[in-house]
Amino acid sequence: MTRIIFLLLLLAISSALAIRTGKEKCPFNDTVDLSNYMPYDNGSYSYQNIIIPKANVSIYEYRLEFLDIRRPVPGHPRACVCGPRHHGKYCIKLCCEPGEFYNETSLSCMEIPRYQNVPSEMTIMAEDYEQKLVNVFQKFTYQVGLPCDKPKVLSSDLDTWDILEDGTLMISNYDAHLDTVSYCLTPKWDDSLNLNVFMPMSCPMKSEVQFSTILNTYGMLLSVSFLVPTIAVHLLLKELRENLKNKILICYLLSLTVGYLIISLINITQARFDFVSCSIIGYIGYYFLMAAFVWISVLCFELWYNFKAQSYEFCTSRCLRRFKIYSMYAWGLSALMTAIVVWTQLSDYVDDLYKPGIGIKVCWLDTRKWSAALYFYGPNTIILIFSAITFVYVTMKMYRMRCDSITKIQKQSFFQENVVILVRLFLLMGITWIMDILSFCVRNYPQFDMFFVLTDFCNAIQGVLIFILFVMRRKVTSLLKAKFLGKTVKGNCDDSIQFHSTLSMSTKVT
Ligand SMILES: *[C@@H]1O[C@H](CO)[C@@H](O)[C@H](O)[C@H]1NC(C)=O
Ligand SMILES: *[C@@H]1O[C@H](CO)[C@@H](O)[C@H](O)[C@H]1NC(C)=O
Ligand SMILES: *[C@@H]1O[C@H](CO)[C@@H](O)[C@H](O)[C@H]1NC(C)=O
Ligand SMILES: *[C@@H]1O[C@H](CO)[C@@H](O)[C@H](O)[C@H]1NC(C)=O
Repeated sequence: MTRIIFLLLLLAISSALAIRTGKEKCPFNDTVDLSNYMPYDNGSYSYQNIIIPKANVSIYEYRLEFLDIRRPVPGHPRACVCGPRHHGKYCIKLCCEPGEFYNETSLSCMEIPRYQNVPSEMTIMAEDYEQKLVNVFQKFTYQVGLPCDKPKVLSSDLDTWDILEDGTLMISNYDAHLDTVSYCLTPKWDDSLNLNVFMPMSCPMKSEVQFSTILNTYGMLLSVSFLVPTIAVHLLLKELRENLKNKILICYLLSLTVGYLIISLINITQARFDFVSCSIIGYIGYYFLMAAFVWISVLCFELWYNFKAQSYEFCTSRCLRRFKIYSMYAWGLSALMTAIVVWTQLSDYVDDLYKPGIGIKVCWLDTRKWSAALYFYGPNTIILIFSAITFVYVTMKMYRMRCDSITKIQKQSFFQENVVILVRLFLLMGITWIMDILSFCVRNYPQFDMFFVLTDFCNAIQGVLIFILFVMRRKVTSLLKAKFLGKTVKGNCDDSIQFHSTLSMSTKVT
């Protein structure tokens, strides 16, 4: 129960943070850093001849770096200056102060030697796609900073790039459109011209792939390679397939498998899709992962319903109808949620801040944004709480049931069918997803990086554990033997042993 309270607390904090970021006066890319500037006595700042009143300066405790990665830094003053909404001029970003260049060897800014020119002009691409020569310092306001720790100068032979009139950088061969958060300009010596010219620097996309992403991808693929045989076994064996709970389980496993496959695909290909296919893949992934969660809630409901009805029997035709209703609910609800996410993403009425971000910079939800990730972790948390409540309810019921006058055999098969499956699933998905949500909450703090490794390990192990718990059971293996080797099935007497051991395990862990 404490876990649930903790989760609720985290959810409250995260939504509070999402609201707080909403109060910022303008997007980060429109702000300039004032930490190296001295305010006047009245608190105003002067930035490149722009007087910024005290009221328009606010303290930021983070910086955005390449592709909007948020890095927490000590609080420093920034003001909204760029763009027509503020002072008319758009901003460009310089890597270093004017008169300096960025040295890629020493990874620092250095003064341009006296005998070399200090560039002030460059060609940009105007709105009519014409190249035009402008004075950078007159045309734009400049910001100063690096997009990441080790930016690289774009190659003038391999990359076709242009600075546009709104100060963004277009790299045609990568189909990339970067704002000032993700690039900077530095003077660079051009041997053929014998001049310093402005060259853009940005960060290599490939090396940005983090260790944890790689681990996560291979973990999911490992899971998938165990989930597929689990599904196959359940579909193959009539005895398993006919049971309503196993049908629900199969749907859950199928959704999870497709979801994991899509996320792995996105991670492996590193968003080399165009916008439309990237979005479609992202939405399909969202649909199936959401469906996996909804199927979990269906399973919980089914167990709860069974207890309430005290139906200790197998159901046959009645169950088929119920399964149809469940299917409609699960696939339909996931479709509805996907539709909401699509609408939010495409709608003009929703502020960018609250959009899920599927297909914009990543094909998947932009989990660097609190608000975006709530589309995923929000519903999941609710379903998790629902499963936890079911779990507690069923456990309590079970203790009371000890005194009921049903036969021991009935009790045993009932436990086998209901409780064991619930305990297993709750352990598996509960712990995995709780870890996932927690690691999402602490993702901006490097000191918690270990947490991600742990989460990814949990994800990786999930499919393996499902395989062990649902396939490597004596009942299933003997059914498999019977099917393929023609051996007869022995009685179910070993199930009770397993039931006891699973229960004692569950009481230890929860
Ligand atoms: C603050 O002082 C500066 C310089 O003395 C002046 O230019 C500016 O107008 C003043 N701002 C306010 C709001 O009084
Ligand atoms: C300060 O902010 C106000 C309100 O956002 C805006 O109307 C005004 O133009 C800003 N002034 C300056 C100098 O940035
Ligand atoms: C960059 O820094 C290195 C090491 O400090 C130095 O040897 C090199 O000359 C610098 N490059 C330029 C172009 O000044
Ligand atoms: C700045 O960021 C906002 C939100 O992330 C984006 O909508 C806007 O296009 C960016 N500005 C520029 C000039 O690219």
